[in-house]
Amino acid sequence: MVAWTDAERNAITSVFAKLNPDVVGPNALARCLIVYPWTQRYFSKFGNLYSAETILGNPMVAAHGKVVFGGLEMAVKNLDDIKKTFAPLSELHSEKLHVDPDNFRLLADCITIVVASQLGSAFTAEVQAAWQKFMAVVVSGLCRQYH
Ligand code: HEM
Repeated sequence: MVAWTDAERNAITSVFAKLNPDVVGPNALARCLIVYPWTQRYFSKFGNLYSAETILGNPMVAAHGKVVFGGLEMAVKNLDDIKKTFAPLSELHSEKLHVDPDNFRLLADCITIVVASQLGSAFTAEVQAAWQKFMAVVVSGLCRQYH
């Protein structure tokens, strides 16, 4: 089990409370698809992903970004048991979707960049440290069912 200090718990939950799900999830997923174009292969049913403009304007990308954000919310609400909470999600990404687990960290980094841009000066180094620890636990939870 991951040990969190009170300061880390406070930082993670207060960052999360400041985020707009309609902005962070969609922008982070779009950013991942633009910066790491090989991740597009898992989203062929989303249609036109040919340029940054079409990715950013694609309603299916935006909708799925909100779904990803919902996954993060589950993790924030279950900080003491992210691994167990994410076991079904990990199994889905591994067994059914066959997502290369290296990609989890890439999306996690895009999420962090978008979070930083939303928070501005409130995203201090200490807050970033807690947030990155949280994202590392999320990534490790998603990787758990890979064999
Ligand atoms: C589906 C979360 C990373 C590809 C999902 C779902 C959630 C989720 C909550 C919906 C599961 C369901 O329907 O029961 C996350 C989180 C991630 C992450 C929290 C990392 C922070 C990735 C990455 C990729 C990916 C990096 C590929 C590059 C997919 C695909 C689906 C999916 C293809 C199914 C989409 C659909 O059929 O509508 N993810 N995911 N995920 N995820 Fe992820």
